[in-house]
Amino acid sequence: MSDIIFEVKDVHYSYLGKFPALCGIDMTIRSGEKIAVIGANGTGKSTLLQLLDGLIFPDHGQVIAFGERLLEHSQDNEKAAHRFRQRVGLVFQNADIQLFCPSVREDIAFGPLQFGIAEEEVKKRTQEVAQILDIQHLLDRVPHQLSIGEKRRVAIASVLAIDPDVYLFDEPTAGLDPLTVRHIIDFIVNANQQGKTIITATHDLHIIGEIADTVYVFGRNKSIVRGGSSESVLNDRALLESNNLLHIHQHCHENREHVHQHLPLEPHN
Ligand SMILES: Nc1ncnc2c1ncn2[C@@H]1O[C@H](COP(=O)(O)OP(=O)(O)OP(=O)(O)O)[C@@H](O)[C@H]1O
Ligand SMILES: [Mg+2]
Repeated sequence: MSDIIFEVKDVHYSYLGKFPALCGIDMTIRSGEKIAVIGANGTGKSTLLQLLDGLIFPDHGQVIAFGERLLEHSQDNEKAAHRFRQRVGLVFQNADIQLFCPSVREDIAFGPLQFGIAEEEVKKRTQEVAQILDIQHLLDRVPHQLSIGEKRRVAIASVLAIDPDVYLFDEPTAGLDPLTVRHIIDFIVNANQQGKTIITATHDLHIIGEIADTVYVFGRNKSIVRGGSSESVLNDRALLESNNLLHIHQHCHENREHVHQHLPLEPHN
């Protein structure tokens, strides 16, 4: 079917052949979907995004993107690799991996220039994306000297400048202030409304209702424990608890310490 973006079929992946990261993953992702991948630390979320981005390849099973199997040697074909890179953009968990130019301006321009877009057009795009991410004041700064939140905005801008069909976000809101989190959620929701497919790995259950229609829960065995609507997953206390995803709150009531867990959709008391 033409609207399928990714088919992940029985994918297994181990680092260095001995550290298992994904075991038997099956997923189908269609154009325009908003997907979240959640799970405790080390359950394989970042590994999945790197497989979808064609940076690593399964030991067993297949990743099919836009109807073609992603294979290591298909990336040797420069034209095919360029086409894929223009269609899929990964915002890394660690922005330092993504930002390597001497200035923010050059980091944003890097992708479009690689794809042969004319310099004047790239300049225009750089200004546009800087405005969308509210980083015009950072354009001449050195990326590695920025704060974590500023780097995250620049990393998103560098992917937005390529204007891919599919965005892969790895923990886009981790460690950010509430206003920046809001800005990033709005960016994701907007991009999706414009037809972009969005796949986000996150621990932040509070943002899932907005950034995902479908949620996959990854378990300690590095496979999918559950896939379902965001509402059904977020309301399943047993599922979240057994997968280390429930928030634990500590309060003092009448001088007595009180610890309790609550569901992300439940009111706080
Ligand atoms: N470069 C690497 N070399 C060896 N093992 C790795 C490497 N990267 C990840 N792993 C292992 O693969 C597994 C999955 O890691 P991954 O980074 O995909 O998890 P994650 O769900 O993204 O975790 P987190 O929530 O902490 O970001 C972990 O057990 C991890 O130890
Ligand atoms: Mg990760």
